[in-house]
Amino acid sequence: MRSAAACLALLFCLQWTWAQSERGGETGNDIIQADRGNNNIEVQSELQGDQSSSQTSITPDIWAELKELRDMAIEQKVELRYSKSKIEKLEQDNTVLETRMSSSENEVEELKRENMDLLARVTASENKNTVLETRMSSSENEVEELKRENADRPKVAFSVGLTDAGTIGPFNTETTLKFSKVFTNIGQAYNPTTGIFTAPARGAYYFRFNGWGVLNFTYIRISLNHNDKIITRGDDANDDGGYVSFSNAFVLQLEKGDVVYMVLHKGYHIYDSSFNRTTFSGFQLFAL
Ligand SMILES: *[C@@H]1O[C@H](CO)[C@@H](O)[C@H](O)[C@H]1NC(C)=O
Ligand SMILES: *[C@@H]1O[C@H](CO)[C@@H](O)[C@H](O)[C@H]1NC(C)=O
Repeated sequence: MRSAAACLALLFCLQWTWAQSERGGETGNDIIQADRGNNNIEVQSELQGDQSSSQTSITPDIWAELKELRDMAIEQKVELRYSKSKIEKLEQDNTVLETRMSSSENEVEELKRENMDLLARVTASENKNTVLETRMSSSENEVEELKRENADRPKVAFSVGLTDAGTIGPFNTETTLKFSKVFTNIGQAYNPTTGIFTAPARGAYYFRFNGWGVLNFTYIRISLNHNDKIITRGDDANDDGGYVSFSNAFVLQLEKGDVVYMVLHKGYHIYDSSFNRTTFSGFQLFAL
C-alpha cells in the first residue's frame, strides 16, 4: 500500500510540473529553475534538454509512464490480494494443524495415562504372582510333608474270627483269646498266634467285637482290654435254651506299642463255628 501511495504522489508531482510548463510557456525555464531544489531532477533535466523541442513530445511519455505506474499499482494490488489470500490460507492451515496437533497431544497424554495404568496393573499382577508363588510353594511343601507323613503312617486294619471248634472254656484263669481265623490283617499289627494287637504308631484306633453263646443255662463273658486295663465286658446268660450274643465298639487313643486284646473270663465260655459269630476287628482312624 505504501508503494502504491508513493507512486500516486509521484504522479501528482509530474502532473503538476507538466501543467506548469504548459501554462508558463516562455517562462517555463524560470519555473524549472525554481524547482531545482525538488526531487524531480530527472523530469527537470529532461525538460532542460528538450527545451528547444515542442511540448507535444513530452506529453505521451508522461502518459506512458503514468500508465506503466498504474499497471504497476494494479499488479501490486493483485499481488497483495494474492499474498493476502495466501496468508489467510496459511493461517487456516495453521489453525487446522494446531487443532490436529492439540488433538495428537491429547491422544499422547491419554496413551501415557493408559500406559501408566497398564504398568500399575502389571506391577500389581507381578506382586500378586509373587504372593501366589509363595503360597503355592508353601502348599507344595505341605503336600510333600503330608505325602511323607502318609508314607510313614502305618496302614492298619484287621478282622478275625475266633475258631471253628465250637465252645472254648471255661478255664480257671483269665485267658487271652487267640482269634485264629484271619479275614483281614493289613499291616500285620494283629498277631493270630498270641491274639494281641500292637499299635504300630500313636493314633486313634477303632475296635469292634462280637460274642456268641449256645450252651443251655450257662454264661458267656469276654472283655476288651487295653494294656492291663479292661475297657468293657460283654456277657449274657443262655437261660431259655436259645442263642445269646453281644457286641460293642470303642475308639481308643493308643501310643505306639500299646496292646489291645480280648480276654475270656475265668469260669466262662464262648462259642464260635464256621459261621464266624465271635469276631474281633480294628483299624487306625488317624495318626496323632
Ligand atoms: C437247650 O434247651 C432246650 C429247651 O429249653 C432244648 O430243646 C435244647 O436241646 C437244649 N440244648 C442243649 C444243647 O442241651
Ligand atoms: C466264615 O469264614 C470263612 C473264611 O474263613 C468262610 O469260608 C465261611 O464261608 C464263613 N462262614 C460263613 C457262614 O460266612
